[in-house]
Amino acid sequence: MGKDLLKGKRGIIFGALDEDSLAWHIAEKCHDEGAQLTLTNSPVALRFGGLQKLGEKINCEVIPADATKSEDLDNLFTKSMEIFGGKIDFILHSIGMSVNVRKKREYTDLNYEWMQKTFDVSAISFHRVMQTAYKKDAMNEWGSILALSYIAAQRVFPDYNEMAESKALLESFARSFGYHYAKKNKVRVNTISQSPTMTTAGSGVKGFQEFYGYAEKMSPLGNADADACAEFCAMMFSDYSRMITMQNLYHDGGFSAMGMNPDVLNM
Ligand SMILES: NC(=O)c1ccc[n+]([C@@H]2O[C@H](COP(=O)([O-])OP(=O)(O)OC[C@H]3O[C@@H](n4cnc5c(N)ncnc54)[C@H](O)[C@@H]3O)[C@@H](O)[C@H]2O)c1
Repeated sequence: MGKDLLKGKRGIIFGALDEDSLAWHIAEKCHDEGAQLTLTNSPVALRFGGLQKLGEKINCEVIPADATKSEDLDNLFTKSMEIFGGKIDFILHSIGMSVNVRKKREYTDLNYEWMQKTFDVSAISFHRVMQTAYKKDAMNEWGSILALSYIAAQRVFPDYNEMAESKALLESFARSFGYHYAKKNKVRVNTISQSPTMTTAGSGVKGFQEFYGYAEKMSPLGNADADACAEFCAMMFSDYSRMITMQNLYHDGGFSAMGMNPDVLNM
């Protein structure tokens, strides 16, 4: 049972594909905490039909939007504000896709057109979402915007490939737009750097199973799972985090602070 942490708040959740998706868990948690939501994903992803199921379960509308298309985002914000009867309090960007990873291209042999597509979907879409909301004056004062990131933005994880640069760009957009949005109407913008989690996007990375086990051992608290991520996001959408902005926040059981863990040597 929720604690009404988000009672009276209205949010848009991007990126729930199936029950494993981080965004799926986050949407359920926000609903549980009393928020009213709209759910969105690309038209291609909606063909799988899973998101409609979630929409029915938590009683909210599903609005298709390709996050690389400004006209789709414009429509999404217009419709969401109509449904809510007012402005928006929070947004979750939970979108990632690498064409080179999908096509199994090594980091030293990347296709640059695919790389641009990867950046467009995984990082520039975050700027696009915020710019659309900003121009439409769609956010309430003290609103909260989050995107999900990964520690490969700061450290080398060879198999994460071009997604490392996508995440570095994503985190930079959070800082830069966070300044402008704070000045405009006190909206805060952050990224959450999440532990490896078993999802469609996560398990697409080469050697993910082994790496998941390594991170589990390296982190003194173990990997943060999708439900813990959902609880953290709900807190970040609540008024309890209203002075946090332009940050990349590690949600990783302590992984990012570790140098060596003897448990890893014993693996
Ligand atoms: N799973 C992990 O280990 C992990 C760890 C840290 C960060 N993350 C990040 O969390 C976020 C969510 O990933 P996930 O692990 O839940 O996997 P997921 O595959 O369930 O979610 C990725 C989502 O991106 C959506 N998407 C792709 N292209 C799109 C487009 N053009 N327009 C709109 N949506 C589009 C997909 O449809 C999907 O719903 C991603 O940013 C990912 O990089 C994941």
